[in-house]
Amino acid sequence: MCGIIGINSNKPVSSTIINSLKKLEYRGYDSAGIATLYDGLIDEVKSEGRVNNLEKNSLVQSMKGTIGIGHVRWATHGLPNSINAHPHSSQYVSVVHNGIIENSTLLKKFLISKGHNFKSQTDTEVIVHLITENLKTENIVNSIKKTLKSLQGSFALGIVFKDQPDLIVGARRGSPLAVGYGPNENYLGSDSYALKSMTNKITYLNDGEFCIIKKDHVEFFDEDGVKVNKKVLELSSEEKSYDKGDYKHFMAKEIEEQPTTLKNGIKEYIDNSNNDINIYNFPWKTNEINAITLIGCGTAYHSCLMAKYWFEELTSLDVSIDIASEFRYRKNRFKKNSLYVFVSQSGETADTYAALDLCNQNNMKTCSIVNVIESSIARDSKFVLPIHCGTEIGVASTKAFLGQMLILYIFALKIGLLRKDIIKEKFTEKIKDLKTLPKLVEQTLLTDNKIQTISTTFNEAKGSMFLGRGFSYPIALEGALKLKELSYIHAEGYPAGEMKHGPLALIEEGMPVVILAPRDSYYKKTISNMQEVIARGAKVLLITNKSKDEVISENIWEKVEVESTNDDLLPFLLTIPLQKLAYYSALKKGYDIDKPRNLAKSVTVE
Ligand code: F6R
Repeated sequence: MCGIIGINSNKPVSSTIINSLKKLEYRGYDSAGIATLYDGLIDEVKSEGRVNNLEKNSLVQSMKGTIGIGHVRWATHGLPNSINAHPHSSQYVSVVHNGIIENSTLLKKFLISKGHNFKSQTDTEVIVHLITENLKTENIVNSIKKTLKSLQGSFALGIVFKDQPDLIVGARRGSPLAVGYGPNENYLGSDSYALKSMTNKITYLNDGEFCIIKKDHVEFFDEDGVKVNKKVLELSSEEKSYDKGDYKHFMAKEIEEQPTTLKNGIKEYIDNSNNDINIYNFPWKTNEINAITLIGCGTAYHSCLMAKYWFEELTSLDVSIDIASEFRYRKNRFKKNSLYVFVSQSGETADTYAALDLCNQNNMKTCSIVNVIESSIARDSKFVLPIHCGTEIGVASTKAFLGQMLILYIFALKIGLLRKDIIKEKFTEKIKDLKTLPKLVEQTLLTDNKIQTISTTFNEAKGSMFLGRGFSYPIALEGALKLKELSYIHAEGYPAGEMKHGPLALIEEGMPVVILAPRDSYYKKTISNMQEVIARGAKVLLITNKSKDEVISENIWEKVEVESTNDDLLPFLLTIPLQKLAYYSALKKGYDIDKPRNLAKSVTVE
């Protein structure tokens, strides 16, 4: 999704801005632009498509400005072309914007009546003209304050002014924004990943705040323009150099990293010598909690659905799950004894953040399970359980999904033990099994060749289905999501038992159907459902776990076997062939695997 970079320096900034924009590419975007200030003039260059196109432009290469802003745009209002790309500028001011201005139509009418001319179809351009209008009567701070108060919706902004050669303004409401500090230069960024290549000293703006970035210092203001003091945080530098290595794509690397990332997660939470789980400083007593609501979007929602099965199995809590974009607008019955858990890789997903904010406003107990620990969701939750799986760049979430499931499983086990819902012996047994999981994932990753061949059939089909029951149902949804987002093939995930109630009508001769049927307590039922689709002509790819008992069916098209373990952990292993199926299918189609069309890594608009 959109990304912002701003640099105020003594040296020309265009090449550093371009390099930082490249760091933001993983978020998903369709155009890019840059504006620098030189000799009292704003130079602006924009282009459709990748940052490379912008970089190649000779105007960018000759930019001399030592202060500037850059942007990658994921279109919301207006086509993804160079006119709608940011920055948007008037004669006096240039603006980059992440988010959506909801009252832009009304503001535009007002500004046109004041004589302003609009060049683009974007909502952002109203901000440019509002600031220009307010600057007629106000100083910089007051014009920004007044402009921000007129805007409805969400935004992170970077602004430079024609006659202010040592000043970038940053402002945020709803969309994340950070300031970075360097030697004789300071930075603005929508994402700490982009700033990390320049500095590890960062300050995050809170909602409603704005800042003035000069070369040698930064001032922060609240929404009323009153100065505020902010802390400078030191980020760990361990992930500075995260790259693809010898892999063709980040996604391929991230799939293969899963044994290591699971090992890291286990190391952080499992006390090896006592076979116990360490969760320090949990702020509530477990007897103060009798219900849990798990909230997320997309893949993170699938890990919530998975966790519902585990929490119901291992604890006596009432468990509900919710899609964040639905939860935030419903009339929720907030319950004092409920724990609200927000699951997110990026920690910046706008809907998940809004759901968290709503719970905080209602004084609920809030906890987040996130990968990016400096993120807004992590910062604003009352308790955080980090995933510890390292930077994830591929837009399609892989290692973060397994990481989220790992932490949710660990959390369910610990709560179950503390509430005495499971006995110590059972708990210890499960911890011992959990410690073997990274090795089992490593072995399951070897199913590679078979999946490569199978993926061709999926590419040739009109559509496909992914079916599972119980613990395998969330994984069926995740498998279908991965295939559709990467290879643009229609794929539906369904509970296998629901087929007769409608979707069975979709099955026709030769349609590829993935059946997830590990030998757990649902196995026999799922195999019956498999026979029903085979009888109607489906080409069934059965994914099960290794066993000495053969599957009794003559008409299975292909079979892939994952390693065997206890029922709780099988979902981790079933996920692996599905990630690979989506990867190889997109690879054969020649699609942009790390940046699928229309999608973004960090979904900062609702
Ligand atoms: C799919 C995918 C998305 C994200 C969703 C939430 O592969 O990655 O569905 O899971 O956009 O993102 P986070 O986890 O950052 O809140």
